[in-house]
Amino acid sequence: MSATRPPEGARTAARERGGIPMNAIPATSAAAAAPLLELRDLHVSYGGIQAVRGASLAVGDGERVCLIGANGAGKSTLLRAICGLVPDAGGDIVYAGRSILGSKSFELVRGGLVMVPEGRGIFGQLTIEENLAVGAYTRRDRAAVARDLDRIFTLFPRLAERRRQLAGTLSGGEQQLVAMGRAMLSRPRLLLLDEPSMGLAPLMVEAVFDVVRTIASEGVTVLLIEQNARLALEVTGRGYVMESGRIILQGPSRDLLHDPKVRAAYLGEA
Ligand SMILES: Nc1ncnc2c1ncn2[C@@H]1O[C@H](COP(=O)(O)OP(=O)(O)O)[C@@H](O)[C@H]1O
Ligand SMILES: [Mg+2]
Repeated sequence: MSATRPPEGARTAARERGGIPMNAIPATSAAAAAPLLELRDLHVSYGGIQAVRGASLAVGDGERVCLIGANGAGKSTLLRAICGLVPDAGGDIVYAGRSILGSKSFELVRGGLVMVPEGRGIFGQLTIEENLAVGAYTRRDRAAVARDLDRIFTLFPRLAERRRQLAGTLSGGEQQLVAMGRAMLSRPRLLLLDEPSMGLAPLMVEAVFDVVRTIASEGVTVLLIEQNARLALEVTGRGYVMESGRIILQGPSRDLLHDPKVRAAYLGEA
């Protein structure tokens, strides 16, 4: 995609996706005001372990929201539940005006709900290009896929140079970029990111968060999960804090950055 073209944001993507029931919701004024994603009293258990114990949150269309919390708080479980990846979630999950509890992952991806999982989910024995292509597997619009791929390589020159290299040979940060590029090829309307900064060197963390900003600036709604609370609060407008499976605090990210409890528990300040 050349620089003279307008950015193809999420709304265009949603239009072009066409014919998908997820997007065929009548645009009444009530629907326009409703959040894009809403969790209502979500519960998830693994056998006897209650990982999520009644979590409610909402993400508006075009909003950038973070969910922070310590290791084991239930963040990944909550994200996996949104994506239809945990059995027997209780409560309700509403996306684009429709309950999606129990929906299949691939249907959700077609509807624009796309996750970059914890640990990135890269195929080490496939090339960078092949890994990216996985993101486009539900798409039929080959010409648009090729344009999106060009654009991703423009955004990530390091990946372009090595497009035929095996992804397993890349650094953690480069693999994170591949995972985010793959998600972008799915034309997300809502992008769910699970700990993109995990295990990365500081410079790579910056690069990854720059990409989060770029994606969001094109109209993609972002729900970011992070243990790195400071960074997460700096790139989002609103945040939720999760502890032992519950949402214990929420508010504008700026306010959370200055909240004494957040500072003590998550920003390493006394
Ligand atoms: N597949 C699983 N089977 C059993 N317990 C799990 C599984 N995944 C996570 N848990 C448990 O659920 C709780 C929440 O984990 P998780 O959602 O991964 O937290 P976070 O992402 O905030 O670190 C933890 O106690 C964890 O040990
Ligand atoms: Mg996790």
